[in-house]
Amino acid sequence: MNGVCVFGVTGGIAAAKATLAVSMLVKQGLDVHAIMTESACEFVSPLTFRTLTANPVTVDMFEEPGQWNVKHVSLAQRADLFVIAPATANFLGKTAAGIADDMLTTTVMATRAPVVIAPAMNSGMYGNPIVQRNIASLKALGYMFVGPESGRLACGDVGPGRMAAPERIVDFAMHALHGRGRPSLAGRRVLVNAGPTREPIDPVRYITNRSSGKMGYAIAGAAAARGAQVTLVSGPTNLPEPEGCALASVETADEMYQACMTAASDADIIIAAAAVADYRPASYSCSKIKKTADDMCIRLERTRDIVAELGQIKGARVIVGFAAETDDLLVNAQSKLVSKNLDIIVANVVGGERSAFGSDENSVTLLRPGLEPEALPAMPKLALAHEILDRAASIIRK
Ligand code: C5P
Repeated sequence: MNGVCVFGVTGGIAAAKATLAVSMLVKQGLDVHAIMTESACEFVSPLTFRTLTANPVTVDMFEEPGQWNVKHVSLAQRADLFVIAPATANFLGKTAAGIADDMLTTTVMATRAPVVIAPAMNSGMYGNPIVQRNIASLKALGYMFVGPESGRLACGDVGPGRMAAPERIVDFAMHALHGRGRPSLAGRRVLVNAGPTREPIDPVRYITNRSSGKMGYAIAGAAAARGAQVTLVSGPTNLPEPEGCALASVETADEMYQACMTAASDADIIIAAAAVADYRPASYSCSKIKKTADDMCIRLERTRDIVAELGQIKGARVIVGFAAETDDLLVNAQSKLVSKNLDIIVANVVGGERSAFGSDENSVTLLRPGLEPEALPAMPKLALAHEILDRAASIIRK
């Protein structure tokens, strides 16, 4: 994705890890401009960020005697995204209080871009009510936070305060960038299910499918970045937990059903992106099945159709389902839209070269009752997540 990202680095040992986040953002196609505080330069040389970004790094407001650097205004205006990682207690305190006394705090103050902050500090500092108050007031003003994580800190303490992993920061920042200028979902509750299910045959074998969970995780992360309270009910995947979501990990269709029914009670939007097994072994063998015959038969029984049952008790909720088909995509999708009482169905092809399964891109058609099908161009699942959320948000009934 094109765009300008201003990346602020403040003085903490995690500044070294920030270099990884910067290079990932550059790989995403962003034009990254680093601003460092003076103490950040004690940990990492500006030359490192300059080399990674291929852009000059700014530290000082007054680089040459008698010259005032007005870059803070131009960078602030050009920014499509602002990331501060690591963010110290000092940075949070100054920004929350409206103090702009260096290049970084001044540029943050002047920007209208979404601001993603990854705090990193000692647990004692992080737990200090002053820091917590500053974070709460910045959050209330729309500043977005990722992390910190708990773990062993550079000072030897164990507890919260470690900067979020660079992948998490970048993932969240990309959601913030894609979500820029789109309707906020603050105050909304969104339930997303994602991934495959596993239906056990015996203690070592199960039936599953090729769903990667990427689409559902992208939707959950996108909704959280737009301020929603998100519950993600996920079957087994290899994906990192999206930032800001309450994750309920499940394995079987039955567990997914229970978790979704619980979370659905107060949801405004339900998005069923999971590839739930339609059948499960009718009986489970507690001991491993031996290969005694040349062939064998596993009798299957139907699972419950989660989204169809949610459709029956829909009330004011907006429900989005997915149709993954190898044949007659639109005809099949249209019939599911009606039979499951959905508001939107996302029709995508599976199998073959254009398969949605496992891919980072998807090209889908959206079907809505009474409206012409809307074929969307191929786009990254991250961008598609926001398109789906935009349509769902536009039909919220309460
Ligand atoms: O009927 P089909 O399984 O193809 O419909 C797909 C949609 O139904 C998806 O949104 C999927 O998450 C949902 N589904 C479900 N429970 C099932 C099977 C599918 O919620 N048991």
